[in-house]
Amino acid sequence: MSRSARAAGSASPVRRATVTAPANIAFVKYWGARDLARAVPVNPSISMTLARCVSRTSVERLDGAGADEVWLAAGPAEVGAAAAAPIDPGEAFRRRVTAHLGELRRRLGVEGQRYRVTTANSFPAAAGIASSASGFAALAVAVAAVAGRQAAPEELSALARASGSGSASRSVLGGYVEWPAPGSPEDDPRAVQLAPADHWDLRDVIAVVESGAKEVSSLDGHRRAASSPHFARRLELLPERLRRVRRAIAERDVHALGETIEEEAIELHLVAMSSHPPVYYWNPGTVEVLAAVRALRASGVPAWSTMDAGANVHVLCPPEAEEAVAERLGRVAAVERLIRDGVGAGPRVEEVVE
Ligand code: PMV
Repeated sequence: MSRSARAAGSASPVRRATVTAPANIAFVKYWGARDLARAVPVNPSISMTLARCVSRTSVERLDGAGADEVWLAAGPAEVGAAAAAPIDPGEAFRRRVTAHLGELRRRLGVEGQRYRVTTANSFPAAAGIASSASGFAALAVAVAAVAGRQAAPEELSALARASGSGSASRSVLGGYVEWPAPGSPEDDPRAVQLAPADHWDLRDVIAVVESGAKEVSSLDGHRRAASSPHFARRLELLPERLRRVRRAIAERDVHALGETIEEEAIELHLVAMSSHPPVYYWNPGTVEVLAAVRALRASGVPAWSTMDAGANVHVLCPPEAEEAVAERLGRVAAVERLIRDGVGAGPRVEEVVE
């Protein structure tokens, strides 16, 4: 049994749990909701769970407290990093976390509990690197552990999504993950693993061209999606694209995967840019990186781009191409920094204190 399963299933009362949960990069994107409040998607999505872009979150039960506390841990999210005085995250962040805590308590049947949450990211937040996915996945896994709840990955997927961040439902699983669309509006679709991380070693070189917060949240993007004249057409094309991505993962066909995910990313942003009002996530650096990746391919290097709801570009490639990709992207003037990541195994319970 994994440490995470053991912790979540422990019958003894857990006082504090510390969890790292990874971001993910969507190959086929969740864009547009049937029910935004419950993060019920219009279309199925598929992603790769990352290894190094993680949120590290501690949840401590506060016995006798009347309210939750939410803190940002100062310093890096790496496990074992020296503890420094935590930082006040501000009202908006606190509200989103406490709303998720309320929903988690309700679903786990521990309404009376109050928590101190301390969290940090190993990468820039709100910049299209799925910080909400990793953050809410970490929170869900940690609260389930403190509640002493035996939680299977499917349940953790639903708990993570109760935050309102749909992509969080995929970050509770490692490797290659699909989050299906609902059969009916009442459905509660849960993510499933298509293949574990060791099925296929793929790398993701992330070109950071914008490390500040994006102007339009993905929630607003979902809200506006159906106003694009291209939204309905995208939905018609998606079943075939989903089949191609599933097959490419099963057969470890990087060329088929690469072509499909690049096409999908451009189309997602086409929908965003043609929404009312329009949503522009790209900046000039995004376009420079896209051109550099096309140039890499023209020179024989297998590498393909994708972007979530942000300006930063994820460049997917096999391990033997990673060096050439990093070298070329490092020469793009607009690139602030590169994050070298790859497929990862999913959340880990790092510490449980009873
Ligand atoms: O999970 P949300 O509500 O932040 O939406 C995620 C949107 C995309 O990152 C663009 C696509 C995806 O499937 O991750």
